[in-house]
Amino acid sequence: MNVMRVSYVRREVRNYADAPVAQRVLEALIAAAIEAPGACCEQPWHFTVIRNQPLLDRISAAAKVHLLSTIGGNPGRMEVRQYLLSPEFQIFYHAPVVILISARSDEQAFEEASVVAQNLMLAAREFGLSTCWIDFARNWLETHEGRRSIALPAGYQPIAPIIIGRPHATTLPAPCEPPIIKWID
Ligand SMILES: Cc1cc2nc3c(=O)[nH]c(=O)nc-3n(C[C@H](O)[C@H](O)[C@H](O)COP(=O)(O)O)c2cc1C
Repeated sequence: MNVMRVSYVRREVRNYADAPVAQRVLEALIAAAIEAPGACCEQPWHFTVIRNQPLLDRISAAAKVHLLSTIGGNPGRMEVRQYLLSPEFQIFYHAPVVILISARSDEQAFEEASVVAQNLMLAAREFGLSTCWIDFARNWLETHEGRRSIALPAGYQPIAPIIIGRPHATTLPAPCEPPIIKWID
């Protein structure tokens, strides 16, 4: 699939078939991901590949409680609050794999991890897989308890939890606002 096409066909998917993703495919995705540009060519990333479903259930439950405590009564977050209050809602949508991309906190961690995440999400399409970035998990994974749950080494900041799996249903493109472009010639 060429780059233009994959940019258009990638969609965040929230409904996955109950099928594992082969180890060699996950390794290929990480290999493609780290081809992303890096600020100082220091490759400051750390990948946590989580396939343990009971652990993902526990992270989801803890992240929901954590998020609800931070959202409080914020009127702008009422829809999110409804999701989080639903016992059936699992923040990872029961995807078979989560790859958490972390970066060393003393670098440009967000930028470094985000370009890697986008590479990984685009590469997944090449294998007929879909992905979704799950920011709902991030704040809790940053806590002491969250870091301990996945044995994240000290000095790394968890940034991009990406769910991966075979899509069960297609996702329609989300409506996009036209970009604001100022041409300066
Ligand atoms: C930084 C970031 C965080 C996101 N966090 C979540 C999330 O926690 N849960 C979720 O269901 N989708 C999440 N998404 C997916 C967006 O909602 C999705 O990209 C958006 O609806 C547009 O859909 P599309 O990517 O299919 O075009 C996130 C996307 C990004 C880039």
